[in-house]
Amino acid sequence: MRNIPYGRQHIDPDDIRAVIKVLKSDFITQGPAVSAFEKKITSCCGVKYAVAVSSGTAALHLACLAIGLSKGDEVVTTPITFLATANSILYSAAKPVFADIDYETVNIDPAEIKKAITSKTKAVLPVHFAGLPCDMPKIHKIAKTNGLKIIEDACHALGAEYKHNGKWIKVGSCKHSDMTVFSFHPVKHITTGEGGAIVTNNREYYERLVGLRSHGVVKPYKKCKKIGPWYYEMRSLGFNYRMTDIQAALGVSQMNKLKGFIKRRKEIAEQYKKSFSGIKGISFQEEPSWAKSSYHLFVLNIDFKKMGISRKSLMNKLSGKGVGTQVHYIPVYKQPYYKSSLSENPLLDNAELYYQKALSIPIFPAMKHSEVSKVAEEIKKITGR
Ligand SMILES: Cc1ncc(COP(=O)(O)O)c(C=O)c1O
Repeated sequence: MRNIPYGRQHIDPDDIRAVIKVLKSDFITQGPAVSAFEKKITSCCGVKYAVAVSSGTAALHLACLAIGLSKGDEVVTTPITFLATANSILYSAAKPVFADIDYETVNIDPAEIKKAITSKTKAVLPVHFAGLPCDMPKIHKIAKTNGLKIIEDACHALGAEYKHNGKWIKVGSCKHSDMTVFSFHPVKHITTGEGGAIVTNNREYYERLVGLRSHGVVKPYKKCKKIGPWYYEMRSLGFNYRMTDIQAALGVSQMNKLKGFIKRRKEIAEQYKKSFSGIKGISFQEEPSWAKSSYHLFVLNIDFKKMGISRKSLMNKLSGKGVGTQVHYIPVYKQPYYKSSLSENPLLDNAELYYQKALSIPIFPAMKHSEVSKVAEEIKKITGR
């Protein structure tokens, strides 16, 4: 049996053909395929505007700039996330303030957001951890009461949904936020190699994001007509965060398969849940009835003390059997850079407890039923269950 990584992309002949077609065309950097990809994203999420960029990190950075974050501002976010979430707040010279997670869902706890708000708070940056939507209506209510912006980090959650007032809402619809950000890194639901996108219903944010993506340059229609077709103006200090047409063509082709990818991820998660049900010392992220996860990750919550094995030993033994695992994540505030740059060092109970017990096991669309069984059986054998 082949080695089983914790996550991997799924590329088929259609994807390869789509990329080759662009390579043979006139545009290989940002061109018509980027616009087509953005259209796919807006129609998938039910949102007005999408801006495709070079990574999820770039998307977060631009979203933070678009809401006008600057020095002295605070942004409330979760410690259980990839570094990029909090780093994007630092890029815009603002300060991340970590609020504890809800232990059962692993998502930021709305009650903890409320406690973390000060007169300097400008925004909330929730992360839909592992693909499970946060309680957005609750977070939205808290944010609006306190005059805060919301950027959703949905890098794990393309295709996820939550129920509000009896209706299923897509993550990325921005019904309860100002902007939502996605990543198309290879372990995500769809891939463009590297890539990301910001979606919003706000025209002003959209225009800012489009400018910031490409050096802050715009071509004002009236002036171009008057002065000449070469004319351009730099109106803000932007970046080169453009996505290429090569990446976007892969993205369009991948988006056509998103539903199938999520269906398969859900089946794998169900198979794991059945395999591990009733085992004392092992539990998993709770999926409330109002949420449909898109299962970017499958995280086991293991009581290693009760199981009589360390995480390191279990990971090494699984690796010896060809099973890849990972830990998502070390609480961000524990990183040396954050420890030395934050004025206070938080120690959040649920984040700490979660971190001690977390182990991500393989989940990706091409994973076979027999491979899921193998992962579960190896874990049971090694832990003596
Ligand atoms: C929650 C979260 N936010 C942001 C990012 C950054 O995305 P990218 O790797 O595309 O820059 C990631 C990537 O893993 C992520 O998991």
